[in-house]
Amino acid sequence: MSTDTDIQMSPKGFHCKLCNVNLPNTASLDQHVKGRKHQTLSTVRATRKTQEDHSVFVSGITPEISQTDLAEYFQPFGNVADIIMDKDKGVFAIVQFSETEGAQATLSRVEHQMKGLKLRVKPREKKEFKLIPKKKNDPQNLQQVLDRLKPQLCQLASVDAQMQYVVERFQLGENEKKARELLVQLLQEVFVEFFPDSQVLPFGSSVNTFGIHSCDLDLFMDLENTKVFQARAKSTTEQAGEGMSDDGCSEDSILSDIDLSTASTAEVLELVATILKRCVPSVHKVHVVSTARLPVVKFHHRELNLHGDITLNNRLGVRNTRFLQLCSGIEDRLRPLVYTIRYWAKQKQLAGNPSGAGPLLNNYALTLMLIFYLQNCKPPVLPTVDQLKDMACEEEECVIEGWNCTFPSQPIAVPPSKNTQDLCSLLTGFFSFYAKFDFASCVISPREGRALPVTDFLGQIVEEEAMQEEQHKAHHQHPKLGPINLLDPFELSHNVAGNLNERSQGRFQRECQEAEKYCRSLQYQHKSAKGKSWGLVRLFTPQGEIQNTKTEQLTISIPFNSASLPEALRNELHKAGDAFRLLWFRQVCSAVEGVMKTVLKCNLAVSKDDVDDDDAVAAEEMETTISSHTSSMNDSFECVESPSKTGPEGAFVVGAKRPLSSDSDTPVSPQGKKQRMRKPGSPPWICVQKHMVWAGRRKVRRVLIKDTDSRPEGSCVELESQVTAYITEKEPELKEPLEFRVQPRMMGGTESTRVVLNFKPRSDRAGVFQDFFHFLEVFLPKMVDTLLEKEVGSA
Ligand code: UTP
Repeated sequence: MSTDTDIQMSPKGFHCKLCNVNLPNTASLDQHVKGRKHQTLSTVRATRKTQEDHSVFVSGITPEISQTDLAEYFQPFGNVADIIMDKDKGVFAIVQFSETEGAQATLSRVEHQMKGLKLRVKPREKKEFKLIPKKKNDPQNLQQVLDRLKPQLCQLASVDAQMQYVVERFQLGENEKKARELLVQLLQEVFVEFFPDSQVLPFGSSVNTFGIHSCDLDLFMDLENTKVFQARAKSTTEQAGEGMSDDGCSEDSILSDIDLSTASTAEVLELVATILKRCVPSVHKVHVVSTARLPVVKFHHRELNLHGDITLNNRLGVRNTRFLQLCSGIEDRLRPLVYTIRYWAKQKQLAGNPSGAGPLLNNYALTLMLIFYLQNCKPPVLPTVDQLKDMACEEEECVIEGWNCTFPSQPIAVPPSKNTQDLCSLLTGFFSFYAKFDFASCVISPREGRALPVTDFLGQIVEEEAMQEEQHKAHHQHPKLGPINLLDPFELSHNVAGNLNERSQGRFQRECQEAEKYCRSLQYQHKSAKGKSWGLVRLFTPQGEIQNTKTEQLTISIPFNSASLPEALRNELHKAGDAFRLLWFRQVCSAVEGVMKTVLKCNLAVSKDDVDDDDAVAAEEMETTISSHTSSMNDSFECVESPSKTGPEGAFVVGAKRPLSSDSDTPVSPQGKKQRMRKPGSPPWICVQKHMVWAGRRKVRRVLIKDTDSRPEGSCVELESQVTAYITEKEPELKEPLEFRVQPRMMGGTESTRVVLNFKPRSDRAGVFQDFFHFLEVFLPKMVDTLLEKEVGSA
């Protein structure tokens, strides 16, 4: 089904026009062509082509003409398989026959007359089948929106005024709010007919005071009272015998089809979807997404052009929406900050997953990050959730699913903040706070308003898992830890940023660093007299793909996680006392070297001219660099400890580093940077790779061993080395070898120890470095773990 013309040769290998993807070599091309995406698109294209060949375009009809009328008229020309009518205007139709002959016979007739109407029949337009990329987050689109906003922003007098303008420009208008309210009311009226005593409650951006024009309508359908109703009706029916019960729950009611006390969420959602489709005017595109963390029914309201989600069991969502409303009520500066930061994050493609799932922050998480920062300003702008709980009175106590969700119902109950910073400096503070934040070792807790050490959670997880194993329970009470750990303020076992990966966390932090730098410039704080872009305008410049790769710092972080280390190494580290970090660093370095040399078969070269400009950056960052060869690591080691410091604007900065003493200009080895002699295999490593050893590994692995499930990627040194050897033997060499530099650094204090590997391409004429790096992001940490285990095991 796939045609030869779909595949083109490209400088990077191959390009599939049908699916719009690049494939580096024949192995991955083969795999792609057999894969689901390509196969599905090929099938869809073939079906479309057949449909086009089998159909005719009919115009000249009127709205009174029905599908049946058309089917009757065209049937004599050939079997009519389908008729698509232009419903709204009723002026044209597409008649599809089972065979091409039907279409040809229709077209060969010169005149068509039906019910006194002269029909015009034409061949159906042949459209080129194209995969239309999602446009929403296209940098060009984002730039166009910003271009329209620019003149208004630039003419305002201050950044504070610009932030207020962003709110005015994007917030939901009164009419929009009213329309949403009416839709909720309509849905409520419909659903209560089918689910007596049910309630439809809005939550999220439509009602949390941070909504924007196009935001979704999130709804929670509360069926608790319906369950009670059904149970009562059931017992009454049983007492009264079969048939109609006193309270009107007749046998043909929808409730007689389903028992809410035992039905699965998916079953109830299917029912909700059916009601939406059949009974709510203007609602279309209804479908159930049962794989989401919270399964939903999605729909679209045509007239209001509004997307909606209905969930069941989301009482916590409604409550945390109340919490956000309260925060807005307590603190006027919150809304301009939320709107500005949400818009910034959208422009930089850091937040908002277009299809719902994805590795970016969701807006709720971003808002919580802002709240956490405001809780940590000095003096705080917002109180912690625990403090709010203590301000509530008895009637306001609220526990949902075992989580304490108590806070005052009215903002008046909360004393105003003593912090007087303006919006402009609070925004700078936000970027500066997260630019330095030690995500690897801290868990953000808006509940307590402080960063908790991640190690507390690791211990908790091990204990819980042991308990669960013992009791054969699968219930998780601990958050899923990831590159950003942000606890929900109420559901304390939920990491609201648990969907992020290393890459999206890295991008978030880098954008904060960039934004912080910009916020300290004159262009941010002072209106341009020449009418140039200033203030927020530059901050909102969309992040294009090209910019992305240019500014990206290519780092891979390997955190110290004692729980995952083999027992022998753990004991060894334990015995080393304070020197454990150095010992572990050495082990990781030698494992990284092993991966590069033995597993991925890179040549490690000597570099005489390697100017270590990263070290200067490191000095600026006040981090510790270990840049001499392994034998001198002891001397160059310097530990940076403090887990928390006070940052600029008096903000509490977690993970801020102790400045180096004034007599220590550069954090380099005692030999001094210039005299440094390097041997091959000493960090920083200069690696040369002549093959695309990262491409098509899965397939090769499958060739080498039949049972892939028992050998996940990166779990066996011998196998991975064989995979590399296979590729280097079978696949052609790169046109030009890839050369890159890897600089390992020890970072963080005792609780946040990690090795950060800095990658820098030195020669990449084949343009493959990015691909190799993305492969290493996942492969290298896994392989290092495997090697650490092996080394110690064999010691
Ligand atoms: P969103 O992230 O969609 O936030 O979560 P939002 O404010 O509605 O923003 P947009 O405009 O739709 O993107 C919607 C709601 O879902 C709940 C929260 O109540 C949030 O307001 N939610 C979301 C959670 O309870 N937990 C989560 O992890 C995510």
